[in-house]
Amino acid sequence: MEKFIVHGGTPLHGRVKISGAKNSAVAIIPAAILSGSRCVVSNIPRINDTIYIMDMLENIGIGVDFKGNTVYIDSSGIKSTYIPANLANRLRASYYFVGALLGRYKEAHVPLPGGCNIGVRPIDQHIKGFRSLGAEVYIEHGIINAKADKLVGTNIYLDVVSVGATINIMLAACMAEGMTVIENAAKEPHVVDVANFLNAMGASIRGAGTDVIKIKGVSELKPCEYSIIPDQIEAGTFMIAAASTRGDVLVDDVIPTHMEPLTAKLREMGVTVEEGENSIRVVCKERTKATDIKTLPYPGFPTDLQQPMAVLLGVSRGTSIITENVWESRFKYIDELKRMGLNAKVEGRSAIIEGVESLSGAEVSATDLRAGAAMVVAALTAKGVSEVHNLKHIDRGYESIEKKFIQLGGDIVRVKE
Ligand code: UD1
Repeated sequence: MEKFIVHGGTPLHGRVKISGAKNSAVAIIPAAILSGSRCVVSNIPRINDTIYIMDMLENIGIGVDFKGNTVYIDSSGIKSTYIPANLANRLRASYYFVGALLGRYKEAHVPLPGGCNIGVRPIDQHIKGFRSLGAEVYIEHGIINAKADKLVGTNIYLDVVSVGATINIMLAACMAEGMTVIENAAKEPHVVDVANFLNAMGASIRGAGTDVIKIKGVSELKPCEYSIIPDQIEAGTFMIAAASTRGDVLVDDVIPTHMEPLTAKLREMGVTVEEGENSIRVVCKERTKATDIKTLPYPGFPTDLQQPMAVLLGVSRGTSIITENVWESRFKYIDELKRMGLNAKVEGRSAIIEGVESLSGAEVSATDLRAGAAMVVAALTAKGVSEVHNLKHIDRGYESIEKKFIQLGGDIVRVKE
């Protein structure tokens, strides 16, 4: 077990390079199964979630060679369509093996996924999609079993906007017979990234990034080389930390349009945000103004940034309200942040935050991935010394987080418990 010891209160300064997108990587790596041959994917973040996904590939006989941030995947020698539970339940994205295996081999047996505990996380829309394509799907002994003689394209309307269901249906549909249309599809940048990767393998997908995605089935996919997009949530975490510590940070290797929901909010709060071609500079000299945040599917404010944002709101002037519209139970971290002086109360799906002059260092424990990131941001913002425990959550999703903060002048060390 490891923890961070953080001496907070120093404004962050300098340049930070953003890694590849976790949520793209965890979909694109299993999607490579569809090629049945060799794919090379670069800009993969070296984090636990991508390693876990690669472990699952290796377990079913797929060759994986992860060098630096590039993974070489050879899916020609697959041995099984069964994923063991001890590997699948380490993260949420293991459900992408259902779409990928079903799409290529018309059969998949994948234990129900794990991941962050942020409320009920149903997969009914994924299952609805697979069934609409002609698969028989049933859950028995905690395993999702999907099987089809053939998959046939159809119209699928998603009852809720789901990133996972949109991607999973794309995976299953790209080798189905005929045309599949996903209506009310998610528009997140990583949905577009996965579609671009599939198209690079020879799939025919149009409309990704809008709420109607059309997938014309092809009989074969081919090897490809692909580089994934920068991580919108990691970039947002550093932008928020720059503002909450009242620093001046150039967040490099980002796609500024992906950051617009956050950029707009930061500007509303009085932060200077300058957009470059592939970078964003965040400068904050004074105490920010309170604002309200409502999380929504893209291009709304990302639910995965509401926790770090709570820290910035917590030191802003005035009262802010965060309304969480995506996950039903995503405020467990507030109690931990209260140890650092956050003045907040949770009422149903809202957190009401009364800004304080400054937070004070304390001992906290990461309750999930993005909550963990918020605690690191809070520790860097607070006056005095903090300890952040339970780093396993943070290490699932942030590459070298402490090294990047140290480069920016943050005083943070990782030590054994
Ligand atoms: C993905 C992200 C996660 C982010 C979330 C929302 C990955 C690996 N994870 O999760 O970090 O917080 O998008 O941006 O990409 N829902 C259903 N039925 C379903 C599927 C989802 O009701 O079959 C509901 C969920 O309970 C939730 C909402 O839809 O309320 C959004 O979930 P979804 O977009 O599917 O999230 P994930 O893809 O799991």
